[in-house]
Amino acid sequence: MKISTLVLSLLVMSVMSFAQKLQVQELTCEYQDNPIGIDIETPRFSWKLITGQRAITQKSYELRVGLDQAALAKGQNILWHSGIVSSDQSVSVPYAGPPLTSRQRYYWQVKIADNTNVVSRWSEIKYWEMGLLKSDDWTASWIEPNIPGDSVGRPSPMLRSNFDLKKNVRSARLYITAHGLYEAHLNGQRVGDQYLSPGWTSYNKRLQYQTYDVTPLLKQGVNAAGVMLGDGWYRGHLAWENNTNIYGKNLAVLFQLEIIYSDGTKESVISNEGWKCSTGAITKSGIYYGEAYDARLEIPEWVHAGFNDTEWKPVRVLAESKKNLVASYGPPVRKQETFKPVKISKTASGETIVDFGQNLVGWINLKVTGSAGTQVTIHHAEVLDKDGNFYTENLRAADQEILYTLKGSGQEIYEPRFSFFGFRYVRVKGFPGELKPENIIAIALYSDMKTTGKFSTSNALLNQLQHNILWGQKGNFVDVPTDCPQRDERLGWTGDAQAFSRTAAYNMDVAAFFGKWLKDLSADQVEDGRVPFVIPNVLGKNASASAGWADAATIIPWNMYMAYGDKRILEQQYESMKAWVGYIEKTAINDLWNTGFHFGDWLFYRPLDDNDGRAAVTDKYLIAQCFWAHSTQLMINTASVLNKKDDVSHYTNSLKKIKDAFAREYMTASGRLVSSTQTAYVLALQFDMLPENLRAQSADRLAQNIKDYGNHLTTGFLGTPYLCEVLTRFGHNDLAYTLLLQETYPSWLYPVKMGATTIWERWDGIKTDSTFQTPGMNSFNHYAYGAIGDWMYRTITGLKEVSPGYKELMIAPKPGGKLTRASAELTTVYGQVKSSWTIEDDIFKLDVVIPVNTSAQVILPNAASRKITERYIDISKVKVIKEVSTIGQDVKLKLGSGTYHFEYPVK
Ligand code: BGC
Repeated sequence: MKISTLVLSLLVMSVMSFAQKLQVQELTCEYQDNPIGIDIETPRFSWKLITGQRAITQKSYELRVGLDQAALAKGQNILWHSGIVSSDQSVSVPYAGPPLTSRQRYYWQVKIADNTNVVSRWSEIKYWEMGLLKSDDWTASWIEPNIPGDSVGRPSPMLRSNFDLKKNVRSARLYITAHGLYEAHLNGQRVGDQYLSPGWTSYNKRLQYQTYDVTPLLKQGVNAAGVMLGDGWYRGHLAWENNTNIYGKNLAVLFQLEIIYSDGTKESVISNEGWKCSTGAITKSGIYYGEAYDARLEIPEWVHAGFNDTEWKPVRVLAESKKNLVASYGPPVRKQETFKPVKISKTASGETIVDFGQNLVGWINLKVTGSAGTQVTIHHAEVLDKDGNFYTENLRAADQEILYTLKGSGQEIYEPRFSFFGFRYVRVKGFPGELKPENIIAIALYSDMKTTGKFSTSNALLNQLQHNILWGQKGNFVDVPTDCPQRDERLGWTGDAQAFSRTAAYNMDVAAFFGKWLKDLSADQVEDGRVPFVIPNVLGKNASASAGWADAATIIPWNMYMAYGDKRILEQQYESMKAWVGYIEKTAINDLWNTGFHFGDWLFYRPLDDNDGRAAVTDKYLIAQCFWAHSTQLMINTASVLNKKDDVSHYTNSLKKIKDAFAREYMTASGRLVSSTQTAYVLALQFDMLPENLRAQSADRLAQNIKDYGNHLTTGFLGTPYLCEVLTRFGHNDLAYTLLLQETYPSWLYPVKMGATTIWERWDGIKTDSTFQTPGMNSFNHYAYGAIGDWMYRTITGLKEVSPGYKELMIAPKPGGKLTRASAELTTVYGQVKSSWTIEDDIFKLDVVIPVNTSAQVILPNAASRKITERYIDISKVKVIKEVSTIGQDVKLKLGSGTYHFEYPVK
């Protein structure tokens, strides 16, 4: 660097430091910015600190809560004041004031002092608002349409009512839920921007309601309310063999609109016997089917006050308990990215195909002009076959169809409502005139989770892999974590979710997403502790208790705790975790869990003509024993965090027995395992099943096995997530890179080379001869193998947590694989972390950002005996760098918060 640039950068950095005073920002309550309609009785507050100084921590905080924003700003009428609390806790600080009441809005703010005794100002004021906390807060009645022939796959019911508002409206809330999916309207306008509401939960036990601020949609005088319903997960076709009506036969809605007039008086408008019903343009809808829409049947003014509904039918009032109602917890599904066609073409057989360039989940928006009665049929697919033909066989019984009938009145714009589609391509039939790019776009929909991670390197294939992992996540995080989003499945498979959960928490904020789903896991757990294969469970009680799937019950809460530092997830799930491990304990004989059905290392490597036995079959009970040990270890960890001493000792004793039994049953005296597969060695090493003195040789056997397969992986769903991690941990980091960068089948980059834009279910979804794997099991959007993302962040850029929530973190990059650059950024609950390195002209440069109120261990690879600088000054002279030590070839530094730039020669 030239002297002038150096001086300039130093100047900029120091100006930035002085410019930034201590501030408290990004205040959230229960992970949300100003949430309304929550039912958590002790909500938690989090905030982030911003300052230009380095090595800053929080010394104390002060929280205050009030009912009136203006008074709170003046420090008056305080409802709860924490006092000055000497604590560095800035994440998930629980409310501890008087009990909270239904519907009330609470305002809050926080002020902090740091370790240098700088005191911030009071933060901006934020709020949260409670929903309906008790079932008798509901005065509305459940109503269902009274339409003959109302059953699955029939027209969508529409329910409506007029209501008169006598005075000016100050504020209004709509509390609403449905049996089925709903779309609510007030005075001709759609309520909110959430889709597929009320989401999917274990409906009979936990049905979520949503709260909307609908003040701007109302007016003094006569108003109209309307709700459209779709079969959705409630009663539509789910799972296999025409399985319908899983939660009930009839669609219904519960609608409670609460109004406060400007003079402070109140009024409610509720669903009751006075509502009317009919059907309209949606003639059929289904999660797997898609949607049929006949625009000629639209009833344009149906949610307008002047609409004459005398011809509409009365509704039926249901005597339905409201005890299962809970406030929405996870992020709602919203529209996200849109995609224009990258190509519209005709196949050899004359079909019109639109390519959106990305395998995504959501739906299309269609613009069409033509005569009344013209039918446009759209099918959705993930791939084309090798001859460029539209390929739908892998969708099995899912039609993924849109059937649109034109009304013939100028340009018509259509989007589906009560389905979603997994697709990159659509086939359009019957379009009047020529289909142009402006006629169709694709819209991705998924749970509205904040993107938290960014990862990139100098290797374009690896960057595409990261892109594919992220899109696998987007497409399969549609209210529940699904295995796949396109075929007749789309279920919350537990094994897939646990395998991917750590990677997921790097890419996006999944705390509340998994928090919600884990509540359903507990709700659907069988009385004896068994955890179903899928959550919500639609496969029956006996479809449960498979090793590596059921362990989602212990693995995901722990992963979420480590990622977000939220102890409540452990408290919330503790009984469920315990019940699951308790079930294994009861089932095991002589400390061996070797009974029952297990999926095993699902979709491991199997060559077609397996004459010399290359298939990587791992003994299922060996796998079960490893996962039992892992879950038991997580019980020890969790019980320690929750201070349950008896449980800690119980599980500690149990773990020893599990490992001893493993050694007796599955290992020779020299450490050879009964299954000589990568997965067997990976699980045994990852979960510390082997005596310490036998681990290194075991890792060598693993390495040898990989080499025997020509540096290819052979692992399935359970071995893959830990494969590279184990290699790195036991001194085979180069081999981990070799595997990651392997471009031939089976490998992570093989699908990338074949043009994948998401993660495939199988290593060879498209085989080397460009034909497809068996259509019965060949999804092109299945995130499980994307679990390598975790290792990419953790090892390539070395960004990982040391303590829960990254309160202490580590930046320990391990360059390799001829990469010359790698960079990761992660928004943690404390703020932005960054690890970004380059190797240029034999100089290793590392940029690090450590959030305020955290500390970091930074490990500089191969830096021992090199001259290391930080911001161009020898590190020995940089005051904030206090602890420097050497570990082998590496140099370890302990740092406080701030931005750092290190350089040293690699040779
Ligand atoms: C799903 C998987 C799931 C598996 C169980 C499949 O049908 O798509 O991802 O985990 O069944 O082995």
